[in-house]
Amino acid sequence: CGIVGYTGLHQASPILVSGLRRLEYRGYDSAGVAAVEDDRLEVRKRAGRVRALEELLDEMPLHARCGISHTRWATHGPASDRNAHPHLGGRGGRMTVALVHNGVIENHVALRRELEAEGFLFQSQTDTEVIAHLVARELEKADDPFLAVRRALPRLEGTYGLGVVCAGHPGVVVGARFGSPLVVGVGDSEHLLASDAVAIAPHTARVAYLQDGEVVRLTPQDFQIQHLEKGPITPRIDRIDWKPDAVELGGHAHYMLKEIREQPETVTDACRGRLIRAEGTAHFGGLNLSPRQLRRVRRVVFAACGTSWHAAMVGEYLIERLADLPVEVEYASEFRYRNAPLDDRTLVFVLSQSGETADTLGALREARRRGHPTLAIVNTVGSTIAREADGGIYLHAGPEVGVASTKAFSAQVVVLAMLALHLGRLRHLSFPDGMAVLEAIESVPALMGEVLKTEAKIDEAAALMTQARNALYLGRDIHFPVALEGALKLKEISYLHAEGYPTAEMKHGPIALVDRETPCVFVAPKGSLHAKTLSNVEEVKARHGTIIGVGTEGDEGLASLSDIFLPIPEAPEVIQPLLAVVPLQLLAYHVARRRGCDIDKPRNLAKSVTVE
Ligand code: G6P
Repeated sequence: CGIVGYTGLHQASPILVSGLRRLEYRGYDSAGVAAVEDDRLEVRKRAGRVRALEELLDEMPLHARCGISHTRWATHGPASDRNAHPHLGGRGGRMTVALVHNGVIENHVALRRELEAEGFLFQSQTDTEVIAHLVARELEKADDPFLAVRRALPRLEGTYGLGVVCAGHPGVVVGARFGSPLVVGVGDSEHLLASDAVAIAPHTARVAYLQDGEVVRLTPQDFQIQHLEKGPITPRIDRIDWKPDAVELGGHAHYMLKEIREQPETVTDACRGRLIRAEGTAHFGGLNLSPRQLRRVRRVVFAACGTSWHAAMVGEYLIERLADLPVEVEYASEFRYRNAPLDDRTLVFVLSQSGETADTLGALREARRRGHPTLAIVNTVGSTIAREADGGIYLHAGPEVGVASTKAFSAQVVVLAMLALHLGRLRHLSFPDGMAVLEAIESVPALMGEVLKTEAKIDEAAALMTQARNALYLGRDIHFPVALEGALKLKEISYLHAEGYPTAEMKHGPIALVDRETPCVFVAPKGSLHAKTLSNVEEVKARHGTIIGVGTEGDEGLASLSDIFLPIPEAPEVIQPLLAVVPLQLLAYHVARRRGCDIDKPRNLAKSVTVE
């Protein structure tokens, strides 16, 4: 979900809505705005996209220089006008508080009962509305929004990022954070509040990130932060280092397509300054662990969700191969509640593009609680996971807007390849072997550029898949996670069912699905197991399956077995996943485009899921 707040000299409504547009990828079930001018508190909200809210605002404009807005990803209560935020708090027909919320309030049922008994009327099925009424109740006692929010918060169990405005307090926006991110934008005679700096970037590069337990009061002139227990806090102002146009479409039909196409630069940026030729290794500034400490590590655990989990699986193969260390990859949501034995020589990494995924943050906190050095591989600078980890590696991929992750995957994989090289060179990997890996990594951007040139051919393959109901994605060894990622991309944006499987495992079950209508995508660049893979392709062919082969340029064997052959350039195995994933991303993209799907905002999904 997304939150924006504004107080300043300009009209708030256009700023609040354009901020929502920039955050819409975070959730897009419904959207709303509340504005306060003099004693008037006005709300416009609607189920559906931000576009629907804009139409409503055209019919019924809001004139105010202070307000809050929200775009929702439903948790409690379906997407409807009523359940859209902002929610109003108050009683006896006098609504004094408008509030937007990200997160989940776990004790909302009990609070609702209590508030209803006191005459507060509930309009929605959300957990959020209790917060609005709690604040309104405090406001009756002391007419100070900052104080009212601070007094209401201790009643809440769960997580929140909040934006609040109150009738009779024009120019004041209050924000609060516990478990769901919030950032303040510092401008000249204006201040902004947002759940993600992306929304603020066009207005100012100066930001202050709130920490858990902090409440902020914004006015056009200044802002104050108080910690619920520790009292006043002196804020630290950071600068956003990317340009606001990093989140513009720049002539591409969709963000996803733009992000797929910019992967050569993504990889270049992720590697910048990290490959050390003189030593045949890679170096990371932020790991905060000495070579001696890293040398002691006997096992690595990765925890992540979704696409980041797939990237971690590629990392497993790479680290096992180059550093000879056992690696386990865990779903973050499972890891945090399991009795996974971890000894004191285990290094825990969490991976997250957004740095805000609640399940992944939970895994990080659990590992830290157990006293493990816990590192993070994260894209979003200043995100919660980045701040809470003991150390880590930034991806430097720039903002990723398409809900289906693409360039962040490539950045994660190349960072993991460098990490494997680094850990390998601390162990048995020789200088020449390290150098070969380093040079392979350096060659990735140009080779990815070659793959991108084959888009027309990939679109032909998409035409073959558009009418299918099921698809199988098969790969083995380091390409198994690539197959999983290809299947996930197709599912996410085209709503076709797809399964990723290890190629040879297919015969133990999924082969039952194979018929003329089921395309099978084989991820099979040339490598040590190539001949075996070709036998598996034959097995599908014998059952009349449609075969899309992703393989090494000039591979006549695979090409002749494939209905469509999608070539990638010849390359060492360790970097092949970075090349093979590109046709799969474009394949999903073109299938979804041909099926008329909403590519950047697929149904039911959100870019970053900040609830468990
Ligand atoms: C959500 C997104 C996925 C993403 C996953 C993990 O479910 O829809 O695309 O891979 O979260 O996100 P993270 O930001 O932690 O990498």
